[in-house]
Amino acid sequence: MAEFSARDRLRLLAGGGACLLAACGGGGASPAPTATGTTAPAPPPTTSGSTDGNSGTGGTSSEMATGQLRDAFASNFSVGTAVGVSRINPNDQSADIAIDQFNSITPEWSLKANNIAPREGEFNFTEADRIVNWALDNGMRVRGHALLWHESTPDYFLQGTPTQIRARLENYVSTVVDHFRGRVDDWDVANEVVSRDIYRGSDGIGPDRRSGWFNAVGNADYIDWAFQAAREANQNARLFINEDNTGDPMIQGWMIEIVRRLLDRGVPIDGIGHQCHLPLTADVNSVLGAVDAFNREFPNLVTHITEMDINCYNDPGSCWESNTGCQADIGAEAPASLLADHARLVKSVMDGLIARPNVESVTFWGVRDSDSWLNSSPVSRSNHPLLFDRNGEAKPAFFAITDPDYVIEG
Ligand code: GLA
Repeated sequence: MAEFSARDRLRLLAGGGACLLAACGGGGASPAPTATGTTAPAPPPTTSGSTDGNSGTGGTSSEMATGQLRDAFASNFSVGTAVGVSRINPNDQSADIAIDQFNSITPEWSLKANNIAPREGEFNFTEADRIVNWALDNGMRVRGHALLWHESTPDYFLQGTPTQIRARLENYVSTVVDHFRGRVDDWDVANEVVSRDIYRGSDGIGPDRRSGWFNAVGNADYIDWAFQAAREANQNARLFINEDNTGDPMIQGWMIEIVRRLLDRGVPIDGIGHQCHLPLTADVNSVLGAVDAFNREFPNLVTHITEMDINCYNDPGSCWESNTGCQADIGAEAPASLLADHARLVKSVMDGLIARPNVESVTFWGVRDSDSWLNSSPVSRSNHPLLFDRNGEAKPAFFAITDPDYVIEG
């Protein structure tokens, strides 16, 4: 049975599918305190620079005020971004924008198991500490992502008997959660554990994904083990199950089944994470409907939107499966009509999220368009999924969601 890649998420959406989104609940999020409880330092000034947008020191729009993004949602939810460790060097434009506009950081790769524990018996927190401390020192909170994800699981985790696998997983989870206790207290514990057999066009085998974890253990008990170990390591941690395509009825149903099973067994779970990797054609009602569905089923769980981006290509499934039939590269300069469509979608989603008080955190999966994984998945091509362009200029979507008087043109 095939184990589907996370990158195939959009295959489902090719042709205009549902949303991938998670939600959490909670009150407004004021800028987070630093690790030491002090006030965040003033953000560094943004600079102006290159036009290739992939490096350099391009400036943010002169029309953009410091904190405009986080302030716009200060009474609703925190606004986060994913950042790779390579971005947090002095004068990196994406890092400067992150500090200037966001109040939550998700390390894009640094907290995954293949980074922290690539070899059995060795834990290396150097990179993870660096990015976590950078975020905290700049007044941002940190979402821990992700303790258990089949795509970032080193092979050795799955070797041996289920008892050995359990001991290894529990040791990993408790060591990592304990290491960051007080610095990282929100964790995506289980990432993408819902079945993807829907991609085969069959009725699928659900609810549990037949991942390497499932196959090695023989069932989905590994999910329980990870949550329990995380809670034991940090009683104050809030523990999330994170998933994409939660707007898809089958995936949504399966995920609800898994969450209900976990809660029935007394497994500690505090929140639902909706990734929200959306196609430009996303149905906003489906995206928001996913938030509502989980809130209805599990009113005590909070909702986080964990990985929002908008893929501007609408490829057939073959592009994701075999890199064939992919749409042509539209280039590094997005046409005005695309920017307008992007802005309208982001605004509709954010307007809907504002109206849902159980949503307490919304994270965009990157700062500038050039940061995005969608420039290389499923094929190498310029994509335009985020709030800032390659030059670090705020896009129409940024102004559409932060300025009530802004009119989207095009
Ligand atoms: C999944 C993972 C993320 C990230 C993205 C894009 O959504 O949860 O951590 O890796 O894929 O690559």
